[in-house]
Amino acid sequence: MNAIRRAGVCGWPIAHSRSPLIHGYWLKRYGINGAYERFGVPPLAFAEFVASVGADGFVGFNVTVPHKETAYAACEKLSEAAQATGAVNTLWRDGAALSGDNTDVEGFLGSLDAEAPGWRDRVFRATVLGAGGAARAVVYGLKMRGVEEIVIVNRTKARAEALVARFGPTTRATAWGKLSAELPQTDLLINTTTLGMVGQPPLDFDLAPLKAKATVADIVYTPLATRLLEAARKRNLVTVGGLGMLLRQAAPGFALWFGRTPEITKELRKLAEADLRAGGSGR
Ligand code: ATR
Repeated sequence: MNAIRRAGVCGWPIAHSRSPLIHGYWLKRYGINGAYERFGVPPLAFAEFVASVGADGFVGFNVTVPHKETAYAACEKLSEAAQATGAVNTLWRDGAALSGDNTDVEGFLGSLDAEAPGWRDRVFRATVLGAGGAARAVVYGLKMRGVEEIVIVNRTKARAEALVARFGPTTRATAWGKLSAELPQTDLLINTTTLGMVGQPPLDFDLAPLKAKATVADIVYTPLATRLLEAARKRNLVTVGGLGMLLRQAAPGFALWFGRTPEITKELRKLAEADLRAGGSGR
C-alpha cells in the first residue's frame, strides 16, 4: 500500500459537497499524510468504483446522492444503522469484506445531544417531516433512543407508510394536510424534507400550534438559519440546525480511514459556516 491514504466522497453530481472541507481540515489539524477527494461517479460506473476500495492506498469513501442505496446493496458487511435504514454513507474494507455504515444516524443524534442537552427527558412524541433517505436515519435514531411515539408526516403518504412498515408500532404515518393537528402534542419537531433549502420551495406552515417548550430541528443547512428555525427562535424554543449533523456524520469515516477520532472544533464550525454562507445548496 502507498504511504498516502486516500479517501473521498462519491456522488453524482458532487461539486457542492462540503465533505472535502471537513476532512481536509482534520487532515491538516492532525498532520496526517492523507488525501480526501471529490469523486464524480455516474450510476453506471459505481460498481467499478466500489471495487477499487482497498487498492493503492484507497481506504474508502463517503457516499452521497444518488448512490446510498446502491452502496448498501454492494456491501458484504453492514452496521446496524445501515441495515435498519437500507442506506450506506461510509464505506471501507474490513479485511477483504466491503463494509458499510450509515453515520447520518449518529450524526443526527450527536447534534441533538450537543445542541439540545437533556432533550430525551423532555420528549415523548416526535414529529418528523419527510419520508426520504434522511427521514429513515432520523426515525431510526429516535427509535434507538426509545422515543415513545414518532409521527411521520409526508406529502406522499405512501412513503410515510413505508417507513412505518419498516420501523414498526412506535411509528405512525399521517398526511401533510394533518400536520397542524399533530403540533399541539409534539415535543420534538424535525424537518428532513428539502423544503426551505436554497433553491427549493419554502417550508410553509404555522408553528403557533406547536407545544410550548418543544424542540425544533432542521437538517437543512443552506441556509444555516432556515425559516423554520427562525420561527422557533422567535418563540424562544430550543433549536438544532443541520450543520452539527453534517459535521458529526463525517467523524466516524475519518476515524476508520485515518486512524484518529477527530474533534468538532469551533474553528471547523466557523470554517464550514463561512463556506456555506459563500454559496450553493447541498445536503
Ligand atoms: P433525502 O434523501 O435527502 O431525504 P429524498 O429521499 O428525495 O431526499 O426525500 C425528500 C423529502 O422531501 C421527501 O419526504 C419529499 O416528499 P415526497 O416523499 O412527497 O416526495 C420531501 N419534499 C420534497 N419536495 C417537497 C415539496 N415541494 N413539498 C413537500 N415535500 C417535499
